[in-house]
Amino acid sequence: MSFYQRHIEPGLVSFACGLKPIARQRAKIVPRAHGVVLEVGFGAGHNLPFYAPERVEKLYALEPSEGMRRRARGRLAKTPLDVEILDLPGEKIPLAGESVDSVLITYTLCTIPDVAKALGEMRRVLKPGGELFFCEHGRAPDPGVARWQDRLNGVWGAVAGGCNLNRDVPGLLRESGFAISGLEEMYLPGTPKFAGYNYWGTAVAA
Ligand SMILES: C[S@@+](CC[C@H](N)C(=O)[O-])C[C@H]1O[C@@H](n2cnc3c(N)ncnc32)[C@H](O)[C@@H]1O
Repeated sequence: MSFYQRHIEPGLVSFACGLKPIARQRAKIVPRAHGVVLEVGFGAGHNLPFYAPERVEKLYALEPSEGMRRRARGRLAKTPLDVEILDLPGEKIPLAGESVDSVLITYTLCTIPDVAKALGEMRRVLKPGGELFFCEHGRAPDPGVARWQDRLNGVWGAVAGGCNLNRDVPGLLRESGFAISGLEEMYLPGTPKFAGYNYWGTAVAA
């Protein structure tokens, strides 16, 4: 891993994840998590203040990047939640099948290399009736914006931790056997259109 990937990239990604428009999105989705929760791609812990502590029995925080886990320490020190860090990628979730009530993913599907495998793992660990809460950026519906997303994707990924601009978030969830309820979507105010098309909602195993 290069110096950039180890030290600079986590700082840039964490800074972007802390922006106000993104915090407003977190407030819409994170408080829905309940029971035993698995957050995939925990990052620098920006979601921690948005959980409803009385609804969360335990939080498994899965984050493969050492740099991001380091940046989460301050927020972890302040949370009342019972948090266990899992130092593995989403493609290898080290939890038993049907063991969690909620999975939370925010701005993570864009970065996971084998996204279908990771979503399969999320399905595996969810209890029957368990829910996947998601808020992700992805492919815009406007052909002109989508074309720019395709053009910029490689360069963007190289500087932004492997982030993809053009993933079809609802399509990926459905292809992985999830049914989506209450899907909402929009361009996030105050963000460039090519990186700011957001999808959020709840998904259950179909
Ligand atoms: C844009 S950041 C979002 C972090 C956090 N979810 C948030 O909302 O602030 C993407 C995160 O996905 C993590 N990530 C990268 N590859 C991953 C994988 N294979 N499985 C799980 N997380 C991964 C990165 O380390 C990074 O922390």
